[in-house]
Amino acid sequence: MGRGHGAGYRSRGGSPHPFLARIVPETPLSTVLAALLLACAAPDDGADSGPAMDGGADGGGAGDGGADPLLALAAQHSPLPAVPAEPTNAWADDPDAAWFGRWLFYDTRLSGSGAHSCATCHDPTLGFGDGLAFSQAAGTTTRHAPTVWNTAWNDWMFWDGRADSHWAQALKPIEDEAEQATSRLAVAHLVADDPLLRTAYEGIFGALPDLSDGARFPAQGKPTGDPDDPLDQAWAGMTEEDRHAVDLVFSHVGKAIAAYERQLVRGDAPFDRWVEGLQDGDPDKLAAISQEAIAGFELYRGQGNCHFCHAGPTFSNHSFHNVGLAWVPGTRKDDLGRYDGIAVVLADPFNGLGAFSDDPDAALYKLGYLVQGPDQVGQFKVPSLRNVALSPPYMHGGQLSTLTDVVRFYSELDQEPAWGHREELLVPLDWDDAQIASVVAFLESLTGADPDPTLLGPPSSPVPESWGR
Ligand code: HEC
Ligand code: HEC
Repeated sequence: MGRGHGAGYRSRGGSPHPFLARIVPETPLSTVLAALLLACAAPDDGADSGPAMDGGADGGGAGDGGADPLLALAAQHSPLPAVPAEPTNAWADDPDAAWFGRWLFYDTRLSGSGAHSCATCHDPTLGFGDGLAFSQAAGTTTRHAPTVWNTAWNDWMFWDGRADSHWAQALKPIEDEAEQATSRLAVAHLVADDPLLRTAYEGIFGALPDLSDGARFPAQGKPTGDPDDPLDQAWAGMTEEDRHAVDLVFSHVGKAIAAYERQLVRGDAPFDRWVEGLQDGDPDKLAAISQEAIAGFELYRGQGNCHFCHAGPTFSNHSFHNVGLAWVPGTRKDDLGRYDGIAVVLADPFNGLGAFSDDPDAALYKLGYLVQGPDQVGQFKVPSLRNVALSPPYMHGGQLSTLTDVVRFYSELDQEPAWGHREELLVPLDWDDAQIASVVAFLESLTGADPDPTLLGPPSSPVPESWGR
């Protein structure tokens, strides 16, 4: 644990792909395979996505290879494709469910105190983050709140991937003691007792169970794993059938919120406009990002090797890696990242293979072969870099305040990893201030166009407008 790094890595810094050169001699087969997978994750099909202009588009400018090689690289990252299907949630693309979910995302009654909602920590005016290193609601979290923009592409949710879908993810903060700190029984009663919530729910998901018998369905209760906890006792005292009925309502609440989150798409950034310009030669589009940002993109794809992990049009390979950040106060001393996340997602009754999934077969490819292994210690999810400028601070502990700090971190790599060992692809880049600023300018060019403002707050009622009221 805590293996070091440093001077020994520097000598390799100049070669174009130090990663592949380094792994072969000294590393176990599993790492070589992981490296090959990584390499595959960086799509190689850019050349298909648009005809290169013969001599027409000279827009790359700053590059060493002219427009065509630059286009081949740039086209791997643009445009943002359609949102992928989500078969474990039958309501994923149901507009009424998304409407109801948009209400629930902002409804503070889904909290123990009545004061907190998802939007407390995922504020649309703060890039769907909260601007804090650690979030504050019922308590204080031990990780930084990532943005909800573009999370529909995530194979895994949370920094450790302990949820395998939007809907399974949404259920956790509702019950988490540091977040909304309520319980699934309280949520089910709220939906059943509030006439508008009930109307919306039943119109989308069908009849609610009869929860009126307080002896069978206590006001509060959830599994907490602590037999001395009254909430756990209330839950354990119910029949299996009644628990299933409440879990079904709870899963539907998650599926509605998920349908809303799938609408939170923000592509169409200046970077995308520039890539179109490389394809069609339009000078206005070629001017959509600065020469500095273009130079930054070339460092990103070149010496930086950033695209091995921040790959493709979402700028993420949707996998987990250890970039070797030092421990910071506020995070848990024993935060092992992905290693712990695997155990949680496999045991989650709301995972894609479970009783509340609408298509368990579709989840097999993700969960069926998932195993815990020592390589996962200290790994965290590779975040998307689209819209990254909107939601500082950065990293799982919010330990880096600005994008300049992040790029400087990769340039210097002067931190001692809290757990495990840093991915060997990462070597100090020794970038000067101008190079760091150019990569930041590139990252800032990934902020998407302004979204539909109606997505940025609750609807006027939980009941979809189209139903007529
Ligand atoms: C107290 C603040 C807080 C509240 C309230 C909260 N979240 Fe979060 N959210 C976080 C934090 C912190 C994380 C990262 C936690 C981790 O990775 O362990 C997170 C992670 C997420 C993610 C994963 C994003 C990714 O890229 O992996 C999604 C999606 C999300 N929250 C949606 C929601 C929804 C939906 C709700 C309401 C049901 C909600 N959050 C309520 C703080 C909060
Ligand atoms: C080996 C895989 C890997 C490589 C290569 C890599 N990153 Fe990352 N990146 C990650 C992971 C994993 C995280 C999250 C780390 C954490 O929180 O512990 C991250 C986080 C980030 C973040 C913060 C995003 C956020 O929302 O908090 C930025 C910005 C970033 N990387 C940019 C870059 C740039 C620029 C490069 C190239 C110089 C690069 N990365 C190279 C894996 C990688």
